[in-house]
Amino acid sequence: MENNQIIYYKQLDSTNTKLQKLAEDGAGHGTVVVAQKQTAGKGRRGRNWESDAEGNIYMSLLLRPDIETAKASMLTLVTAYSVAKVIQKYGFENVQIKWPNDLVLSGKKICGILTEMKLKGTEIDFVVVGIGVNVNAEAFSEELSDKATSLYLECGEKINPEHFIQDILHGFWEAYEHFIEKTDLSFMQEEYNAMLVNCNKEVKVLEPGNEYTAVALGINENGELLVENDKGETKTVFAGEVSVRGVYGYV
Ligand code: BTN
Repeated sequence: MENNQIIYYKQLDSTNTKLQKLAEDGAGHGTVVVAQKQTAGKGRRGRNWESDAEGNIYMSLLLRPDIETAKASMLTLVTAYSVAKVIQKYGFENVQIKWPNDLVLSGKKICGILTEMKLKGTEIDFVVVGIGVNVNAEAFSEELSDKATSLYLECGEKINPEHFIQDILHGFWEAYEHFIEKTDLSFMQEEYNAMLVNCNKEVKVLEPGNEYTAVALGINENGELLVENDKGETKTVFAGEVSVRGVYGYV
């Protein structure tokens, strides 16, 4: 899937919203929307995604995979893994993943991923995967400055966003092919776990109506997080339903 149709915009409300509209109008698998800025960037859990800084990555990918709906959440982990590999390639060996899909550098967020799915009956009509990477941001709002960082702030050098996007797409499609072959994450499980920020650390599992602390062990081949609770039992935490926090803060 190397010949994606990439549609560039100077400014959009949200690349995810735009691509969902294009998908409704019949855009094909592999269509990519990129914006230099977003006026209403969307984050997970109804939050907004700060998108004023130019030179950052705001992009969305349209997928029309022939897989069970229950497996779609794995696409988010495939994306996190692929973007983390690109960040590593740019020399940031210490990039980490906060399960399921935040990327972290020096304990601060560097990339967020928002996956939105539309069903047709019980089947997947399309999935839009939105990727925001803080590449060249020189500063963040006061609210975010202690939680977010950019590659520029980490190394003092600007990165060409076009090249970065091409690298993401290249890495993503390679990982996507592997994923589709077996529709599981066995091909990346080990590398993902090696980057997992919470691995062997205490985390707070926030299940609706059930909050507990446990030690994160790593993901299984379905992308679920295995944790050991204080009774020594291994529990499976499903992406999408719960969130996991470090006991002392964001990571
Ligand atoms: C998160 O909350 O961590 C997810 C943030 C996802 C942000 C990206 S930026 C490109 C795409 N368009 C959006 O409106 N959101 C995603």
